[in-house]
Amino acid sequence: MNFNNVSFERSFGTSAQLEPSTMPEVAFSGRSNVGKSSLLNKLFNRKGLAKVSQTPGKTATINFFAGDGARFVDLPGYGYAKVSKSEKERWSELIEGYFNQDRDFALVVALVDIRHAASDLDENMIRFLREADLPFVVALTKADKLSRQQQNKQKAALKRQLELGQDAPMVVTSSAKGEGIDELRRIIKEAVS
Ligand code: GTP
Ligand code: MG
Repeated sequence: MNFNNVSFERSFGTSAQLEPSTMPEVAFSGRSNVGKSSLLNKLFNRKGLAKVSQTPGKTATINFFAGDGARFVDLPGYGYAKVSKSEKERWSELIEGYFNQDRDFALVVALVDIRHAASDLDENMIRFLREADLPFVVALTKADKLSRQQQNKQKAALKRQLELGQDAPMVVTSSAKGEGIDELRRIIKEAVS
């Protein structure tokens, strides 16, 4: 798996448009603005591959990126309060439609902001992944915003809140500073092999 050899493939605005999966898929989920697109770019060493924005709700489609032997899926962020009801419904249609399909789910990278308690929607997401028995890893994002001591404290608190076991996969990451990126690459490689 060469992370430097990934290219944008297609965007889908409704789940009915999704094409059948023909390779293992690594999907990135998390609330709007948590840093999904930034993390994808960092993993691939490509600045503008996935669109990053300070405005939440930037990724409103499911975007597929193809690598050798795996696809990467940038899911639209959930939980942005300021979008319309119809936009929220479109979001759920996309996410639920994606996960309800019979696809080759290799790994879900569930992103949670390390600075805050998990939101209700984060809790729902993790519960869903656990109940659906999907392989997942929690990536705590924006670690550069906290001291090492605060990071460890938040990591323990979020493990407790999300009811993850002591040895549940949880990686502390920073797309700004590169922390945790190699570890996440290792976990992805293992999941798609
Ligand atoms: P949506 O597409 O709206 O769901 O957002 P997203 O989850 O893809 O977030 P995105 O990658 O667009 O990042 C949102 C904002 O957070 C941008 O301003 C990024 O620069 C910032 N950001 C992302 N990752 C990090 C990080 O590791 N550290 C810091 N300090 N900022 C980050
Ligand atoms: Mg995005």
